[in-house]
Amino acid sequence: MKKIILIASLLTGSLFAQVKGDIEVPYISYQIKMGKGFDSVQANCLMCHSFGYILNQGPQSKLFWDKKIDKMVEEFKAPITKEDHKIIAEYLFKHYGNGKLK
Ligand code: HEC
Repeated sequence: MKKIILIASLLTGSLFAQVKGDIEVPYISYQIKMGKGFDSVQANCLMCHSFGYILNQGPQSKLFWDKKIDKMVEEFKAPITKEDHKIIAEYLFKHYGNGKLK
Protein backbone atom coordinates (compact mmCIF):
# COMPACT_ATOMS: atom_id res chain seq x y z
CA MET A 1 0.00 0.00 0.00
CA LYS A 2 2.84 2.37 0.84
CA LYS A 3 4.30 1.62 -2.57
CA ILE A 4 1.05 2.54 -4.28
CA ILE A 5 0.83 5.82 -2.39
CA LEU A 6 4.45 6.57 -3.26
CA ILE A 7 3.92 5.83 -6.95
CA ALA A 8 0.67 7.78 -6.96
CA SER A 9 2.33 10.79 -5.39
CA LEU A 10 5.26 10.59 -7.79
CA LEU A 11 2.84 10.47 -10.70
CA THR A 12 0.84 13.47 -9.53
CA GLY A 13 4.05 15.29 -8.82
CA SER A 14 5.37 14.98 -12.32
CA LEU A 15 2.01 15.63 -13.95
CA PHE A 16 1.49 18.67 -11.80
CA ALA A 17 4.44 20.37 -13.38
CA GLN A 18 2.91 20.17 -16.83
CA VAL A 19 -0.80 20.64 -16.24
CA LYS A 20 -2.63 23.51 -14.63
CA GLY A 21 -5.28 22.65 -12.09
CA ASP A 22 -5.84 19.78 -9.74
CA ILE A 23 -5.37 16.23 -10.69
CA GLU A 24 -7.29 13.52 -8.96
CA VAL A 25 -5.79 10.11 -8.69
CA PRO A 26 -8.59 7.58 -8.47
CA TYR A 27 -8.63 5.49 -5.38
CA ILE A 28 -9.38 1.90 -6.18
CA SER A 29 -10.34 -0.30 -3.29
CA TYR A 30 -10.17 -3.99 -3.88
CA GLN A 31 -13.21 -5.88 -2.75
CA ILE A 32 -11.98 -9.23 -1.68
CA LYS A 33 -14.87 -11.55 -1.03
CA MET A 34 -14.27 -14.00 1.73
CA GLY A 35 -15.87 -17.38 1.47
CA LYS A 36 -15.27 -21.03 0.86
CA GLY A 37 -12.12 -21.39 -1.19
CA PHE A 38 -10.54 -18.07 -0.31
CA ASP A 39 -7.95 -19.87 1.80
CA SER A 40 -6.77 -21.70 -1.29
CA VAL A 41 -6.54 -18.48 -3.28
CA GLN A 42 -4.50 -16.93 -0.53
CA ALA A 43 -2.19 -19.92 -0.33
CA ASN A 44 -1.83 -20.49 -4.07
CA CYS A 45 -2.25 -17.20 -5.88
CA LEU A 46 -1.19 -14.32 -3.70
CA MET A 47 2.41 -15.40 -3.23
CA CYS A 48 3.22 -14.03 -6.68
CA HIS A 49 0.90 -11.10 -7.19
CA SER A 50 -1.87 -9.12 -5.55
CA PHE A 51 -5.55 -9.87 -5.68
CA GLY A 52 -5.87 -6.94 -8.06
CA TYR A 53 -4.61 -9.12 -10.91
CA ILE A 54 -7.66 -11.28 -10.43
CA LEU A 55 -10.17 -8.47 -9.91
CA ASN A 56 -8.96 -6.54 -12.91
CA GLN A 57 -10.23 -9.26 -15.21
CA GLY A 58 -13.84 -8.37 -14.41
CA PRO A 59 -16.60 -10.98 -14.20
CA GLN A 60 -15.63 -13.99 -16.29
CA SER A 61 -16.80 -17.46 -17.23
CA LYS A 62 -15.88 -20.71 -15.50
CA LEU A 63 -13.78 -21.69 -18.52
CA PHE A 64 -11.91 -18.39 -18.39
CA TRP A 65 -10.94 -18.94 -14.75
CA ASP A 66 -10.01 -22.55 -15.39
CA LYS A 67 -7.73 -21.45 -18.22
CA LYS A 68 -6.20 -18.67 -16.14
CA ILE A 69 -5.25 -21.15 -13.44
CA ASP A 70 -3.80 -23.45 -16.12
CA LYS A 71 -1.80 -20.51 -17.44
CA MET A 72 -0.37 -19.79 -13.99
CA VAL A 73 0.68 -23.42 -13.66
CA GLU A 74 2.01 -23.92 -17.18
CA GLU A 75 3.64 -20.59 -17.88
CA PHE A 76 4.65 -19.38 -14.47
CA LYS A 77 5.15 -22.75 -12.75
CA ALA A 78 2.71 -22.07 -9.95
CA PRO A 79 2.64 -25.16 -7.72
CA ILE A 80 -1.13 -25.65 -7.70
CA THR A 81 -2.60 -29.11 -7.17
CA LYS A 82 -5.60 -30.40 -9.13
CA GLU A 83 -7.66 -30.23 -5.96
CA ASP A 84 -6.75 -26.61 -5.29
CA HIS A 85 -7.34 -25.77 -8.95
CA LYS A 86 -10.92 -27.01 -8.60
CA ILE A 87 -11.55 -25.15 -5.34
CA ILE A 88 -10.07 -21.91 -6.68
CA ALA A 89 -11.95 -22.09 -9.98
CA GLU A 90 -15.20 -22.57 -8.09
CA TYR A 91 -14.43 -19.71 -5.73
CA LEU A 92 -13.51 -17.36 -8.59
CA PHE A 93 -16.57 -18.30 -10.62
CA LYS A 94 -18.88 -17.90 -7.66
CA HIS A 95 -17.60 -14.48 -6.64
CA TYR A 96 -16.11 -13.11 -9.86
CA GLY A 97 -18.05 -15.02 -12.47
CA ASN A 98 -20.40 -13.86 -15.19
CA GLY A 99 -22.77 -16.79 -14.80
CA LYS A 100 -21.60 -18.51 -17.99
CA LEU A 101 -19.78 -21.80 -17.96
CA LYS A 102 -18.00 -21.13 -21.27
C1 HEC B 1 4.36 -18.60 -9.62
C2 HEC B 1 3.79 -17.28 -9.56
C3 HEC B 1 2.29 -17.13 -9.78
C4 HEC B 1 1.28 -17.75 -9.08
C5 HEC B 1 1.41 -18.75 -7.94
C6 HEC B 1 0.05 -17.23 -9.64
N1 HEC B 1 0.31 -16.32 -10.62
FE1 HEC B 1 -1.07 -15.25 -11.64
N2 HEC B 1 0.41 -14.29 -12.63
C7 HEC B 1 1.76 -14.56 -12.51
C8 HEC B 1 2.50 -13.76 -13.45
C9 HEC B 1 4.01 -13.75 -13.63
C10 HEC B 1 1.54 -13.00 -14.15
C11 HEC B 1 1.76 -12.05 -15.28
C12 HEC B 1 2.20 -10.75 -14.81
C13 HEC B 1 2.30 -9.79 -15.96
O1 HEC B 1 2.07 -10.16 -17.11
O2 HEC B 1 2.59 -8.65 -15.66
C14 HEC B 1 0.24 -13.34 -13.60
C15 HEC B 1 -0.95 -12.77 -14.00
C16 HEC B 1 -2.19 -13.15 -13.56
C17 HEC B 1 -3.45 -12.59 -14.03
C18 HEC B 1 -3.59 -11.46 -15.01
C19 HEC B 1 -4.00 -11.91 -16.36
C20 HEC B 1 -2.93 -12.61 -17.11
O3 HEC B 1 -3.31 -13.55 -17.81
O4 HEC B 1 -1.74 -12.26 -17.05
C21 HEC B 1 -4.44 -13.27 -13.38
C22 HEC B 1 -5.94 -13.09 -13.55
C23 HEC B 1 -3.81 -14.23 -12.50
N3 HEC B 1 -2.46 -14.12 -12.62
C24 HEC B 1 -4.50 -15.09 -11.68
C25 HEC B 1 -3.90 -15.99 -10.82
C26 HEC B 1 -4.62 -16.94 -9.99
C27 HEC B 1 -6.14 -17.05 -9.92
C28 HEC B 1 -3.70 -17.65 -9.31
C29 HEC B 1 -3.93 -18.78 -8.32
C30 HEC B 1 -4.66 -19.90 -8.83
C31 HEC B 1 -2.38 -17.17 -9.71
N4 HEC B 1 -2.55 -16.17 -10.63
C32 HEC B 1 -1.20 -17.63 -9.21
C33 HEC B 1 2.34 -15.43 -11.62
C34 HEC B 1 1.66 -16.24 -10.74
